[in-house]
Amino acid sequence: MKDTPINYTIVNQIIENSGLKPDMSSSTIREIVRIVNDLEKATGEKYIRMEMGVPGLPTPQILIDAEIEALKNGSKTVTSKYPMIEGDAELKKESARFVKLFINIDVEPKHCVPAVGSMQSAMALFLTVNRLHEKRNKILFIDPGFPVQKQQCHVLGVKYETFDVYNFRGEKLKDKIESYLKTGEFSSIIYSNPNNPSWISFTEKELKIIGDLATKYETIVLEDLAYFGMDFRQDYSKPGVPPYQPTVANYTKNYIIMLSSSKVFSFAGQRLGIIIVSPELFDKSYDGLKRNFKKDVFGYALIYGSLYTLSAGVNHSSQIGMAKMLKAVNEGKYNFVEGVKPYGERAKVIKKLFVDNGFKIVYDKDEGEPISDGFYFTFSYPGLSGNELLEDLLYYGISAISLKITGSERTEGMRACVSQILPEQFEVLEYRLKKFNENHK
Ligand SMILES: Cc1ncc(COP(=O)(O)O)c(C=O)c1O
Repeated sequence: MKDTPINYTIVNQIIENSGLKPDMSSSTIREIVRIVNDLEKATGEKYIRMEMGVPGLPTPQILIDAEIEALKNGSKTVTSKYPMIEGDAELKKESARFVKLFINIDVEPKHCVPAVGSMQSAMALFLTVNRLHEKRNKILFIDPGFPVQKQQCHVLGVKYETFDVYNFRGEKLKDKIESYLKTGEFSSIIYSNPNNPSWISFTEKELKIIGDLATKYETIVLEDLAYFGMDFRQDYSKPGVPPYQPTVANYTKNYIIMLSSSKVFSFAGQRLGIIIVSPELFDKSYDGLKRNFKKDVFGYALIYGSLYTLSAGVNHSSQIGMAKMLKAVNEGKYNFVEGVKPYGERAKVIKKLFVDNGFKIVYDKDEGEPISDGFYFTFSYPGLSGNELLEDLLYYGISAISLKITGSERTEGMRACVSQILPEQFEVLEYRLKKFNENHK
């Protein structure tokens, strides 16, 4: 029996009976959540839980109050009537203002369409973008990425290819992406920025490369900004003042941005995302769309075709609440970046604790510059595979997911999410990491 912070025999028994072995590193996030729940119950110990990207901060009071107000005032319309699929007029208006003030891109309210979280935005977009042209029916994932988006492709029967961007930063990105696009088989490219799981952020040079290629090969970029403004190396919080949130929209007209309220506004429970479609794409006709949709115009097919089949709109109250929230942000009355800065502060301390105890940060640079501290980071331990690391950490009361399920080729690595770890847990984390290092040296 080994000297581990959590009872070795109990942990061993639960792992052996979990059904997740031999390849624990292929476990989904929810499977890891389940086993850690079982471990906490059986051992009575609290784990340092870094496996799931759940917001760990409260929702801004303005947003909660506005939603409650909407429910109180509007029982005749808010709860009893269906919402419009294209979205609440105020939310659309404030979204377009937000895009201008914080991204410096011009769109009209009609180009801003709510969905039931970015999860649904991606589903609706996958359903639409792959049907524009008969032959261009694959999606290119710039990985590592959010695993559920690939699951969505599997469920839909949508074809995709992926590559790990680790070895293709900067100028190297051009040839790599072009090698896929020149086949003429790709309808779109998807990535998140800052990136889940690695927390890398593309530089302006890289965004330009992606944008130029998207224009050259008529490919649509699905830019997932679920962590909007959270590259804390820059201050993106001032309305109408540079620097603005970096985006590929500065370099191509073939863009669609996915905004999510889940992380930036800690609003994950209410499920609200906003799709921003480039004005040029919104009104463009594609012959291929006629096969599956009533009309061949992109914006129309997305809203009254794809989104309509997934949900008859997004609930009124969260849209009304978010409209008021964005209004406050747009008027400079609420600083949304300050609201989520604690994640960056926690990451700085937690990453140092890992590094001081023999761990390595896997994705550590953006073209030579250290990555930002934020919601996630990636780590490995010399001499251990991702599979061994995931399992071994459970004996030390620490949980994270393997990079293997994110499309990363760095399969020795793990993704840690800092959102749930409170400063009062740092001491326990340090003790556990020290023990781990002592026992593995
Ligand atoms: C990159 C990325 N995209 C999308 C989502 C899903 O966002 P939502 O909660 O708005 O569905 C997440 C959630 O973790 C994410 O990390």
